Amino acid sequence: MSTAVVRKQISSAEVLIYEDKAALVDAAVTQIAAVLRECITARGTCTLALSGGSTPQPIYQRFAAMSGVDWTKVQLCFVDERNVPVSHPDSNYGMVDRAFLESDAVPQDHIHRIPGELDAAQAAQAYESELRTFLKPEPDGFPVFDLILLGIGPDGHTASLFPQSPALADQEHWVAANWVEKMQTHRITLTFPVINHARRCMFLVAGADKQWAVTQVLVNSGSALPAAKIIPRNGTATWLMDRDAGAPLL
Ligand code: 6PG
Repeated sequence: MSTAVVRKQISSAEVLIYEDKAALVDAAVTQIAAVLRECITARGTCTLALSGGSTPQPIYQRFAAMSGVDWTKVQLCFVDERNVPVSHPDSNYGMVDRAFLESDAVPQDHIHRIPGELDAAQAAQAYESELRTFLKPEPDGFPVFDLILLGIGPDGHTASLFPQSPALADQEHWVAANWVEKMQTHRITLTFPVINHARRCMFLVAGADKQWAVTQVLVNSGSALPAAKIIPRNGTATWLMDRDAGAPLL
């Protein structure tokens, strides 16, 4: 396993910075596998939610070969989805399918896809209904995912919670259809309450283009950026990043 060049605690965030993207990928695979094993050992099952984007793709490609992970015990979900069919190049499901699901390691009925091909509001409703078939809400009405993998955009968005977008204010639903003005499109996304109920959130961040957002979220306290609002209420937020993204923290 790759060793972090820097490990530090910054308020509620555990930050690990790796020499380069290859080391980040290696460390992320090892850490995700450890969380999955621990979770399955403790509770017999594990509910995992995956983000899209380019950073996690090489990590997902290593999922099928993860040692000691019984994928038949994992409920595999998505953090967000673009409002497109799976055949579209932007589909997060399509990316994860090519990277991992094609291995058939996860039983079909444990794969919970966001139906991005539908009208966004219908997709959000359908996905939330599906999550409710196996995720029981806590007394405050929100479920507890065991592990949520997140990225961060150069603008500080995470999931499909973009700056100034309507879903930032959604404290009621598990899943929201979110209009993203700068993209002139809808996204479907887990909401802040659901993400912040997770036992563990893990940010996977690579590239110098993330430096500004990383600095705003982890250094300049009080940031209004969406990624700064990810503070798991009684879980852990772990940030794994490469040196390019984490340079401001070195
Ligand atoms: C998505 C993701 C999104 C992503 C960030 C970072 O659907 O694109 O959920 O939140 O994590 O945009 O993406 P990169 O890893 O490609 O930089």
